[in-house]
Amino acid sequence: MGVRFKGWGTGVPERVVTNDELSQTLDTSDEWIRERTGIRERRIGGSAKSLGVEAAGKAIADAGVSLDSIDFLVLATTTPDRLTPATAPMIAAELGLSCPAMDVNAACSGFMYALRTAQGLLETGNRRILVIGSENLSRWVDWNDRNMAVLLADGAGACILDYDAEGSDILSFVLGTDGTAADLLTCEHGGFFEMDGKEVFRRAVRVVVDSAEEALERAGVTAQDISLVVPHQANVRIIQAAAQRLGIEMERCVVVLDRYGNTSSSSIPLALVDARDHGRIRPDEYALLTGFGAGMTWASAVVRWS
Ligand code: ACO
Repeated sequence: MGVRFKGWGTGVPERVVTNDELSQTLDTSDEWIRERTGIRERRIGGSAKSLGVEAAGKAIADAGVSLDSIDFLVLATTTPDRLTPATAPMIAAELGLSCPAMDVNAACSGFMYALRTAQGLLETGNRRILVIGSENLSRWVDWNDRNMAVLLADGAGACILDYDAEGSDILSFVLGTDGTAADLLTCEHGGFFEMDGKEVFRRAVRVVVDSAEEALERAGVTAQDISLVVPHQANVRIIQAAAQRLGIEMERCVVVLDRYGNTSSSSIPLALVDARDHGRIRPDEYALLTGFGAGMTWASAVVRWS
């Protein structure tokens, strides 16, 4: 009994904001942002709903499935358009769906948590789930704060996940939290994102490596078997440090943060779709999906691409 990925889609705002543009209003520079984070530009605009609708529409078309075959919609978002109602029902309505729809908030691990939720829903009787990660982080950024403004951005990614009695594309899942680290990265009601970047960095590398190693072991594969690592896109130095500890060359890691910045729950599907569109993953190859975020939360999964 398992699950199969059936189609993928993304949605990003048209407006490109370069590092040079940010350095016109902030005490920063293109050189600092590129060297310390790997980010060159990001997309800003839209809402969690509008970007989510775009990504979901493309995933549904890519999968070639009918709307009435979708049993459940799970949306990962850290930045819902309103505190209540959840954004998922609004996306559902825009798409023409009336199935159950709910938000999941696990910050930058959100898409992974949504996938795990969808997997559980498929194992308990549902047959087809629409999983979306959609973020409007720019709305919660203090654009005078160079610490956060250079990092966060907007975007969405989505996939269709189907039940399959014969086998599974997801071979293992490892998720966790450490709520004692909750204050390291926060956004209070009516406030803006704030972060202890150095400490988040340090812990991020550790939880990515630990959860990835456990996911590999549970799937019965080694780091050498992995063709593609699809990591959360926060900082290229975090990806490099984690890859080095796992014994995986950077050539096997997907990096799209240079073009999209940190889009939280959307970053893993944005990276995965980019890799797929560039032919970087072929049928029967193994991919390692791994993320971390505020909470702290983390999640790693081993996937066999079908
Ligand atoms: N532009 C120019 N200079 C800057 C900037 C900036 N934007 N930000 C900091 N600096 C300066 C600092 O003031 C400091 O100057 P000093 O040496 O004179 O004191 C110097 O650059 C180095 O600052 P650090 O904070 O040490 O920079 P660091 O290399 O740690 O990079 C960063 C900071 C990019 C935030 C990094 O720590 C990081 O990526 N952390 C993890 C972020 C993350 O993964 N977040 C989780 C996900 S986000 C979510 O869940 C929504």
